[in-house]
Amino acid sequence: MQATAWWQRGIIYEVYPRSFQDTNNDGIGDLKGILTRLDYLVELGVDVLWIAPIYPSPMEDFGYDISDYCGLDGIFGTLADFDQLLNAVHERGLKLILDFVPNHTSNQHPWFLESRSSRENSKRDWYLWCDATEDGGPPNNWLSNFGGSGWEWDATTRQYYYHSFLKQQPDVNWRNPSLREAMFDVLRFWLDRGVDGFRVDVMWLLFKDEQFRNNPINPASHEGSPASQRLLPIFNADRPEIHGLVASMRSVLDSYGERLLLGEIYLPINRLVLYYGKDLTGATLPFNFHLIQCAWRADAIAHLIREYEAALPPGAWPNWVLGNHDQPRISSRVGSEQARVAAMLLLTLRGTPTIYYGEEIGMRNVQIPPQEIQDPAEKNEPGLGLGRDPERTPMPWDCSLSAGFTEARPWLPLGEDYTTRNVVNLSRQKDSILRLYQALIRLRRSNEALISGRLEGVVANGNILRYERTDHGQHFAILLNLSHEQEEINLERGRILVSTYLDREDDLFERSVSLRSSEGLIVNLT
Ligand code: NOJ
Repeated sequence: MQATAWWQRGIIYEVYPRSFQDTNNDGIGDLKGILTRLDYLVELGVDVLWIAPIYPSPMEDFGYDISDYCGLDGIFGTLADFDQLLNAVHERGLKLILDFVPNHTSNQHPWFLESRSSRENSKRDWYLWCDATEDGGPPNNWLSNFGGSGWEWDATTRQYYYHSFLKQQPDVNWRNPSLREAMFDVLRFWLDRGVDGFRVDVMWLLFKDEQFRNNPINPASHEGSPASQRLLPIFNADRPEIHGLVASMRSVLDSYGERLLLGEIYLPINRLVLYYGKDLTGATLPFNFHLIQCAWRADAIAHLIREYEAALPPGAWPNWVLGNHDQPRISSRVGSEQARVAAMLLLTLRGTPTIYYGEEIGMRNVQIPPQEIQDPAEKNEPGLGLGRDPERTPMPWDCSLSAGFTEARPWLPLGEDYTTRNVVNLSRQKDSILRLYQALIRLRRSNEALISGRLEGVVANGNILRYERTDHGQHFAILLNLSHEQEEINLERGRILVSTYLDREDDLFERSVSLRSSEGLIVNLT
């Protein structure tokens, strides 16, 4: 299949705006900061910038609690700053994707303030209100993803409202036609300004069972499990009505030309791929997070790739992700050496890759001292490892105090290794992970086989994960050593294009090739 659309050919790069670059020295990143770093992104070779929420927000969940969908939070800048950034992005031939958070608003959003003002208010039905049970308890057993019941009692109007996340993030009612139109107007507001698409927050959670039935107990949960995993979310997630809604969102986007609808969806592969929609009229790309959850072994990854490819509906375009602002960083999950193998995997698989800021410099999770914890997920259920601050720390640009991120105290601490692991330093080191990312991206951009080519022969040979990409006479093999042992693999003959060690380019081999500990190779077989 020839990849022709920009979202098929391009590489997505997620910026967590609080942590990318501060310019007004409040210790928090801003839009002007992103602007000053655009040329870095061009040099890296990425194409599509996704910025996590920048709208006015009380910041209970760091922007995922929106109080005005059509404005900018002062922390990040003004609408004029946004327009300037968007222009600069487009001038460089890049695309800009915004985060759309349609499952819930902030409890400070005027819609919710109205809704909670009385049962008769015209926006009452824009949220999920329910009576108490006879004994005064919540209407059912649904849980919040941040722990505890998902229901909050409102003493004024004497009903409960539902929140999938914090109680400051009430869920909206997508069955209400006016809410639906208001949300679609939000999409139009930003599309009219020129954005190239949206990443839709918790796409699979938008609909809930109309009868509010209780969820069954999760037989796999145990005492130490996070509270949110004690039940199976049968009735408040992945409901059948969702697909019609996603298709309607998509048609709003399609009326603006080639736009991207990315869905945040954590589901098993067979459920996930349904979000491409009937005749591919759903999400352009339902995010595939399975590499984040997969065991880091050649056989497990080979199985995952085959399963995912086989499950894709005809014509659906794949995508792969190693990390995001909710997940432990790849370098911490698999180690610094294997992070380089992971980079080669991400950038040679078939489908659109997404890079989370800092992955390209091997950023690791940063341990956050208790007094500096910010994330409500950690504060609500301490000690279970649910906190997301460790993967949200400031981008280290150079060796200066505060790493060139800010001149103030950064909102989250920098990694201890920032004086060595920073952009300036790594761009000078010939064999750094940053140089590896650049080399892999360059190779991908200049070889159609790595973009549109077929993906074939996905196998695990012991510790080696192996597959091939082919297109019109180009024939590449990708060999990834998932172990810390030296490994040997039989291959007729070939020429090495890139090694993750960045030291064997153009080496020729016959009959077999050896891979050092955690080495990945892209080999030209033609
Ligand atoms: C998913 C987002 O990625 C996460 O950061 C956020 O806390 C929840 N959705 C709630 O919006």
